[in-house]
Amino acid sequence: MSAERGHWSSRVGFIMASAGSAVGLGNVWKFPYVAGDNGGGAFLIIYLGCVLVFGLSLVMAELAIGRVTQLNPAGAFRKLGGRGWAMVGGMGVLTAFIILSFYIVVAGWTLAYIVFMAGNTFGGLDVEQNTAIFTQFVSSPIQPLVYAAVFTLMVIGVVLGGVSSGIERASKWLMPLLFILLIILAIRSVTLPGAGEGVAFYLMPDWSRVTGATWGGAVSQAFFSLSLGMGAMLTYGSYMSRQQNLARDASMVVGLDTLVALLAGLVILPAVFSAGFEPGAGPGLTFMTLPAVFAEMPAGALFGSAFFVLLAIAALTSAVSLLEVVVSYCVDQKGLSRPAATIGAGAVIFVIGIPVSLSQGIWSDITIAGKSFLDLADFITASVMMPVGGLLIAVFAGWVMGPRAIEALKSHPDQALPLAGLWLFILRFVAPLGIAWILIQGFFF
Ligand code: PHE
Repeated sequence: MSAERGHWSSRVGFIMASAGSAVGLGNVWKFPYVAGDNGGGAFLIIYLGCVLVFGLSLVMAELAIGRVTQLNPAGAFRKLGGRGWAMVGGMGVLTAFIILSFYIVVAGWTLAYIVFMAGNTFGGLDVEQNTAIFTQFVSSPIQPLVYAAVFTLMVIGVVLGGVSSGIERASKWLMPLLFILLIILAIRSVTLPGAGEGVAFYLMPDWSRVTGATWGGAVSQAFFSLSLGMGAMLTYGSYMSRQQNLARDASMVVGLDTLVALLAGLVILPAVFSAGFEPGAGPGLTFMTLPAVFAEMPAGALFGSAFFVLLAIAALTSAVSLLEVVVSYCVDQKGLSRPAATIGAGAVIFVIGIPVSLSQGIWSDITIAGKSFLDLADFITASVMMPVGGLLIAVFAGWVMGPRAIEALKSHPDQALPLAGLWLFILRFVAPLGIAWILIQGFFF
């Protein structure tokens, strides 16, 4: 089994693939509207704190657990901690299914918007008219599902290629392209007339808008954005070689993910202000407001399509890592072949995506706790399963592995890791208590 297990062919390949997992709809679609809803700059500072304290430590822990076991999440926890802990890995695989069920739907929308933008569908329309177009599109029963199917096939195509010639190769092309598009768009956006107000809103903290919910929002955003708490980083770590400097490369991945989120905010919020729109438009911000913004700028159809291409690339490399969690589980634990696991899991995910897509239209009356299937899948994973998974992984690395975790982090037995003691302290105390406190506060206040 392990003889055939794939590996990254280079350090850069690993970094691109892992940054590809982290950089996704979370950064470009979610982050700007969550920051917009929560007071801009103040949210930014809290978010950066969460990333630095919880995020980086947990990315390192997951990668180290994956690398030392060379196994999928369920196999890895079982090997190091016994049967009971294997459930944490199993929960991760389940989380991957649920995230994918809405990820393919929203990613499908981005594919559709590339087409709409290129066809100049939004020329001369205002936000109300755009909103109507968006609502009509997402609520129609068939069209969004066709796009979701196309996206799912793309994900399957990459994962079928395997670790180095599928995932790594695709990421090495797509991630640099994404950075280039993002930088061009950020420059375009901050130089629009009136953009300064948006930049100020984004960067100047307004502490009066910070509540307990802001903290919860920052933690779930950090977990979602860094692909944490459900075994994606663990799985990618299992394809790493022992020689790689794990702490350094993990910091690179976390840094890139954070940079992209910050830049995405700089693309979206100044553009929104420049066009005189509200930053608190919620999940629709990207799809309803931006097309109107692009429609008003010179060469808007071009910039607009470029933006949705960027979003689709970000979504693709993330969805690939989500599917890889499921595939590595089916291959390691159930003995399936990679093609059978990839195609089978892809088909199941598409089927679960059907009600999620329909929940935006003909099934919008069906709600659970006031949430549509899409909101529910997002909420359960990002706000519950991922933070809880992260808490358990911190406890596992800090207490069950303890000093063994530090050994797993080293690339050779006498590598000096001056901050290893601090890392273990965070995993043992700060992360479990901090995450628990924030979760409880989110639920009860
Ligand atoms: N990190 C991805 C994003 O920001 C989502 C993701 C979550 C990917 C979990 C893999 C695993 O969109």
